[in-house]
Amino acid sequence: MVEIPGRGPDGAPSFASAPGDDGPPPASLFARVGGEPFFTALVEHFYDAVAEDPVLRPLYPDDLAEARGHLRGFLIQYWGGPADYSALRGHPRLRMRHAPFRVASAEREAWWRHMSAAVRASAAGPAEQAELLAYFDRAADAMVNAPG
Ligand code: HEM
Repeated sequence: MVEIPGRGPDGAPSFASAPGDDGPPPASLFARVGGEPFFTALVEHFYDAVAEDPVLRPLYPDDLAEARGHLRGFLIQYWGGPADYSALRGHPRLRMRHAPFRVASAEREAWWRHMSAAVRASAAGPAEQAELLAYFDRAADAMVNAPG
């Protein structure tokens, strides 16, 4: 019988004997950064900057509390924590949810500047910071919906 790497003799995935497997699967980023308190602090740092930003502030409602809660819940869910965001808000559909707001390069740049500063000021280690920064950079590109 030909054994398929990573599979048991019956062809079913084997998690006990995968070649090169020398431990449990890596923990989610959510777990590696210490869970919810990390995301609470990250989002707080980010929105404190948004509150003072002349380009971004006009896009948001007067009270930023809900926006803070939504971003926090989304990021917790995205990085492997509890899925409370979708229980409350449904499928993220982030591009669609941003369609009412004009997101051109100035808005994207301001958003990225504040979020990357929040990540760099956070307690996450270098590998987790790099992962978060790469994700936010790509996600911010995806949210651009206007020229200029
Ligand atoms: C690129 C520039 C961006 C701008 C200008 C922007 C702006 C906004 C605005 C104005 C809202 C609505 C807030 C409210 O009405 O309460 C919002 C909501 C939200 N944004 Fe962004 N955003 C940007 C990028 C991103 C990115 C990259 C992500 C994810 C990584 C993100 C995640 C969210 C989430 C989760 C919400 C709440 C959605 C909901 O209603 O459930 N945004 N954003």
